[in-house]
This record gives sequence, structure tokens and C-alpha cells, in this order.
Amino acid sequence: MRDDEPLIWHEATNSYIVSRYEDVERVFKDKKGEFSTENYDWQIEPVHGRTILQLSGREHAVRRALVAPAFRGSDLRDKFLPVIERNSRELIDRFRTTGSVDLVTDYASRFPVNVIADMLGLDKSDYDRFHGWYTAVIAFLGNLSGDQEVIRAGERTRVEFAEYMLPIIRERREAPGDDLLSVLCTAEVDGVRMSDEDIKAFCSLLLAAGGETTDKAIAAIFANLLRHPDQLAAVRADRELISRAFAETLRYTPPVHMIMRQSTTEVTLSGGTIPAGSTVTCLIGAANRDGNRYRDPDSFDIFREDLAATNAFSAAADHLAFALGRHFCVGALLAKAEVEIGVGQLLDAMPDIRLADGFDPAEHGVFTRGPQSLPVRFTPISG
Ligand code: HEM
Repeated sequence: MRDDEPLIWHEATNSYIVSRYEDVERVFKDKKGEFSTENYDWQIEPVHGRTILQLSGREHAVRRALVAPAFRGSDLRDKFLPVIERNSRELIDRFRTTGSVDLVTDYASRFPVNVIADMLGLDKSDYDRFHGWYTAVIAFLGNLSGDQEVIRAGERTRVEFAEYMLPIIRERREAPGDDLLSVLCTAEVDGVRMSDEDIKAFCSLLLAAGGETTDKAIAAIFANLLRHPDQLAAVRADRELISRAFAETLRYTPPVHMIMRQSTTEVTLSGGTIPAGSTVTCLIGAANRDGNRYRDPDSFDIFREDLAATNAFSAAADHLAFALGRHFCVGALLAKAEVEIGVGQLLDAMPDIRLADGFDPAEHGVFTRGPQSLPVRFTPISG
């Protein structure tokens, strides 16, 4: 498709599909204001309410300025790095002496959701409920077959989540603490503050935007490294290489495989025309393996020279997994910190990690994609 039909009309998704790096990059950067995120009104609004992803223009810029500082700089370094370290360690402690674990079920699917709950300052006894909502939300967002039971569970989650969060938000307004929820309650930009409903919707978005993505990234980095033992050995020997392995994993196996936009005007892309008011599907997975952008795009190579690894100040490696432009992932640095700390701790706990006998990791999912299961074996460290 990318080589022969870079712009196609796709009946089943009722959208135009673009798959070349330069086209996806152009849609995301949207320098001429040709695309909106109105598609999220039907994609995510029923389960999350109105979030930052649906907003545009000044409204979006102000909302972004309200939430972004919590995910970088001193807030990230001083408040939330210890949260990440603690939550990763707690999960690893449950299996460090066992010699076997499923890295998806027992670690990756729990870790980022626990981190978000802990950052928000929620009660530990509520983590399992939080995890249940997370599972219902991601099932709703990935429900391409329109399963009615999944839709109803998603809608129920929106109600239950609001019933749970709104009283806590009101409490934090009265007595703010040091947590993310208090930061969101007190943040103010140009005289604008977030309403209780805005904060609740943002927290709900974090379940999917910050949970499922990082969950899949951690599973994918291990699946990729376990399939390439020489690169796993290099990362084990030099932990600075985790950030290269993360960037290459996001290029090679991005957790978010496709993102939609709505054309606000007639647009010409790759020689074809998209009428105004159309849904446009951007295939991140295909664009990240475009041979016109990356040499030998189908091989996993953490040392590749045509990909900038993320650094401490910017998570903007030049793949498209975090998107680009106005909606570029707010949590990219947090995700990078979670992956670097989590992968480092896992490598320390499992010096000879290997896939369970005969297991070959398979990827699942269309909108979001990653290994569903990753059973590994290791020799426990004594003492
Ligand atoms: C936006 C991917 C981790 C919060 C996005 C977008 C992508 C993305 C592709 C753009 C969506 C669009 O343009 O339509 C990822 C990946 C992650 C990750 C691959 C992990 C590897 C996180 C984390 C958080 C987070 C840890 C926070 C806890 C958000 C938010 C937005 C966003 C709030 C909306 C930004 C806006 O609309 O301005 N992410 N994300 N993400 N992400 Fe992430």
C-alpha cells in the first residue's frame, strides 16, 4: 500500500488511509491548519468525556499549558521519578524469587496504571478497581467489531469513574497535597483553571493514553530484545542504551499503530485528493518503516544512525510513535522515564532472562498493538 497506493479510500473504516512517512508527518504537523481532531468526538468521547485530544486552537494551547508542566522538569524529576521506581520495584518483588513470569500480565499491564494511580495520589486499595476501569476503557477503544457488551462496559466505566473521581477532586480542591491531582486542581494559565469535569476527563484519558501505550512499549522492548540476543547483551552491559532501544522499539513496533484526523478543507496528498470533511487514517506503523525515511526499515537495530535516540530534555526522537505537532504526546518524557527505570530494574532482577521454551511472541491489536503475553524464565538471584 505504502509503495503502490499511498492514498487509498478504505470502505470498512470509512476513511482515507495514508501510510508514507512524509504524508503522516504532514498530517500530524498540520502547518496549514487542514486537519482537526473532531474524529475523537465519536472515538473517545463516549468513554472519556471531553479531553484535551478533542480540543483545538487557543483552547487546546491553554489546556496543554495547564497540564504539561506536571510531566516534565522538576515535577517529573523530584515528585514522580520516586513513584515510578517504587511501583516498578513492588511489582518485581512479587516474582523476583520465582524464576518465571509473564512480563505482560504480571508487570507491563500493571506498572504504568499503578504509576498513574500513585501519581494522582489515589488510595492503594483502589488500584485493582482502577485497573478494572483501564481494562474496560482499552477494550472500548479497540472494539472494531462493535461488540455491544464492550460498548456498555465502556459507558458504565465512564459513569463509575466519574462517581469515584469527582468527590476526590473536590477534596483535593479543599486541601491540596503534592500529588498530580492537586497540581491539576490548582493549575492556572491566563486566568483559566480546569473544571472538575475537565480534570476527571483528563484522568480518564491518562488510563488509555498513559497506561496502554507504555504497557505495550515495555512488552515490545523486551520482545524485540529477546529476539535479538546480541542487542540485549549490549543493553545489559550499558544501560545508557535503554533509551536507544526504546526509540528503536517505538519506531519498529509502535504501541499506537494508527491515528485518525478530520480534513477541514480539500487536501492533496501523494498526488491524490481528500475531500473536505473526510476522516483520514494515518498508519504510524507503516510510516515508521518507510524505506524512503529509514535504511533497512524492517530490521530492529538499536544502533541505527538514522534515528535520534530520545535524550533527557526531549523525547522527540524522529519516529512518529508519539505523533508530532500540537498533540505531540504530553507524557513522552514520563513514558521514557518509566521504560528506562522499569527495564533497568527488570534486567537487574533477571540476569539471564530468556523466553519460555517454545514461546514466540505475537503482536495483537489494530489501533494499538503489542504482545499479549510474554512468558519468560530466569535464574533468581539468591539473597
Ligand atoms: C498524546 C503515544 C505515553 C499522555 C499522544 C499521541 C500519541 C501518543 C501518538 C498523539 C495522539 C494524537 O495526535 O491524536 C504515546 C506512546 C506512549 C505514550 C507511544 C508510550 C510509549 C503517554 C504517557 C502519558 C501520555 C505516559 C501520561 C501519563 C498523553 C496525552 C496526550 C497524548 C495527555 C494528548 C496530548 C494533546 O492532545 O495535546 N500519545 N503516549 N502518553 N499522550 Fe501519549
